[in-house]
Amino acid sequence: MNLLAVFLLLLGVRLASVFLVQTYFVPDEYWQCLEVAHKLVFGYGYLTWEWIRGIRSYIYPLLFAGLYKALALFHLDTTTLLVLAPRILQALISTFSDYRFFIWSGKKKWSIFLITISWFWFYTGSRTLSNTLEASLTTIALSYYPWIGEGTGYIWPAAICCFLRPTAVIIWIPLFMYHLGNSKYSPYKLIFTKLVVIGALVGASCVAIDSYIHGKLLITPYEFFKYNVLQGVGSFYGTHPWYWYYSTGLPMILGINFLPFLFGSIDTVRNYDAFPIRRKLLVTLMTSLTVYSFVEHKEIRFILPLLPICLFVCVDVLTRWSYKASRYQIWIVAVILLFGNIVPAYYSGQVHQRGPTDLMPKLQEISKIYKDEGNNRASIFFLMPCHSTPFYSHIHENVTMKFITCEPNFQLQYGERPVDEQFYEAPNIWIKRHIPVHPKTAMPTHLVLFESLSDKISEFLESYSLIHKIAHAEYFEERRGKHILVYQRRLFNEKNSFNQNNHDTIQNDEYNQNSFNNLL
Ligand SMILES: *[C@@H]1O[C@H](CO)[C@@H](O)[C@H](O)[C@H]1NC(C)=O
Repeated sequence: MNLLAVFLLLLGVRLASVFLVQTYFVPDEYWQCLEVAHKLVFGYGYLTWEWIRGIRSYIYPLLFAGLYKALALFHLDTTTLLVLAPRILQALISTFSDYRFFIWSGKKKWSIFLITISWFWFYTGSRTLSNTLEASLTTIALSYYPWIGEGTGYIWPAAICCFLRPTAVIIWIPLFMYHLGNSKYSPYKLIFTKLVVIGALVGASCVAIDSYIHGKLLITPYEFFKYNVLQGVGSFYGTHPWYWYYSTGLPMILGINFLPFLFGSIDTVRNYDAFPIRRKLLVTLMTSLTVYSFVEHKEIRFILPLLPICLFVCVDVLTRWSYKASRYQIWIVAVILLFGNIVPAYYSGQVHQRGPTDLMPKLQEISKIYKDEGNNRASIFFLMPCHSTPFYSHIHENVTMKFITCEPNFQLQYGERPVDEQFYEAPNIWIKRHIPVHPKTAMPTHLVLFESLSDKISEFLESYSLIHKIAHAEYFEERRGKHILVYQRRLFNEKNSFNQNNHDTIQNDEYNQNSFNNLL
């Protein structure tokens, strides 16, 4: 097979996903990456508590900060490019990882087929999520791992992976143990002349970079461990039952590919000695899933790095099956797998949670051109669950933007309750206390909210008019909704009853003004 052609095909699919995947997945794609990079390069951007406390490494945002800087130097820092370029960069990294997957899994047709159609990888492979980089680096490392023969090159990408996301250690401990057991080198030599040396070099460079940017000596994996494990901050963000990764997580990321995977796993268990590589992979997979299962806070993206392992098993089992199957059978299976992946890829990439992608260009335009009666620029308040949309990285205008925060408990003073809890318990009271209504120009010029909230705060919204209604999801949750609404403040004399309506809050103006300014 022509390797260049394979590479170009993989590149085409990854680049296509940049344009075809137009939905919102998780906050971290923006808030733990692009927002940070934007702040580094352009001086404004919102840093969440993770960055204030230094539990995240700057390595990943730095990639995109470099890109932003380059665009800025050439005066190409338009919002379109600021949004696209980072995704293209991640798509290139993912392409290389796909290519390595192809090499690793024996340069089979099934390798190309499965890695390109995998719906979850299509959905995540071009997102600026540290889990995406972790998955790419894991695939690259797996492809250099000495499954047969000898080699230690894989330790480099694996070490970077572990520094970026300390939980990656979980995958690499069993694999390194296998390596120790099978290597012709002594464990002493492998540990002290390879693992420790490479680990120290990677670790020292990363610590140096992080400490430089944070301005003090900082070992981010240690801080991460301190907050997540010792203080159990993770469970603040929601918990799932222990079996969730087995019952939901893994079947979900694999989709219909779960069938060949299951078949391959059973086959591997039955013919234990015939498939040494598959055996090692399954042991690694099971150990990792088990360890992940102990952590209360579970998210589907955490097991993304296990996807290449599963796909390897699928490729192997399908390739072996193809030797004895008829052409007709192979086509049937391929078509079923293709459609089984296209449907969720389409739905997740084009339909589900599309709102923020369509919303941000509208807010961008407002931020750029809007001027109120007093010739002030737009000030936007997101009255929605925290981090429901991207932020400055997709606006690229230094206008005032605020949102309902959701700091974990340890960030708050004793007796204080998280802002989002207070807000959703009694939105009207919260608004009266925190959003000044007099003079009218002190009110935010624009509000962004899910439609489920609009009925509850209708009185407040009387001072605003609806200017955009954007489709978001097809189901209704308590705090979210099918549509995202954008409201714009009415002009002064457009509504005469305005002052009367809000009469009871006027005496609190000074207090309101201050709390609005101090809100964030
Ligand atoms: C952004 O705006 C804020 C508030 O107006 C101002 O304090 C800050 O200096 C601005 N930052 C940049 C980089 O322009």
